[in-house]
Amino acid sequence: MKILMVCLGNICRSPLAHGILAHLIEENGLNWEVDSAGTGNWHLGECPDGRSIAVAKKYGVDISEQRARQFNKADFDHYDRIFVMDRNNLRDVLAMARSTGDRAKVSLFLVNDIVPDPYYDNNLFDPVYQLIAARCEILMKELAV
Ligand code: 4NP
Repeated sequence: MKILMVCLGNICRSPLAHGILAHLIEENGLNWEVDSAGTGNWHLGECPDGRSIAVAKKYGVDISEQRARQFNKADFDHYDRIFVMDRNNLRDVLAMARSTGDRAKVSLFLVNDIVPDPYYDNNLFDPVYQLIAARCEILMKELAV
């Protein structure tokens, strides 16, 4: 199973989803792959936002080695499932899909809901972490069957 987490900048939300799922994959001895990417190109090559690094560290997950990259069409070929954080991400990723097969790989990370962008609100990082962590636990079980 190859999973890609996508947000706008690839520095706040998708690095958390990437790091938390990678941690769970490791803990459960699964032979899965997870990565993250952004639809935008402002932060290419940067490490995650310091506030995401800090909140992840607080809960025992190290995301400091991640580097931001931009989503590209080849990701449709490599990944089995592509999870997007909000509806703008969904629109932008679907706009790059080349086939119904590509489109079928793309879903909102939360079921019919969005992960709010914490970039402009320091107080959102902790609740966003909790939201993403809870979903990753469920997602791992859902994808394992
Ligand atoms: P992310 O948050 O999409 O969760 O990584 C953002 C990061 C950067 C920007 C917007 C959202 N930005 O405008 O630079």
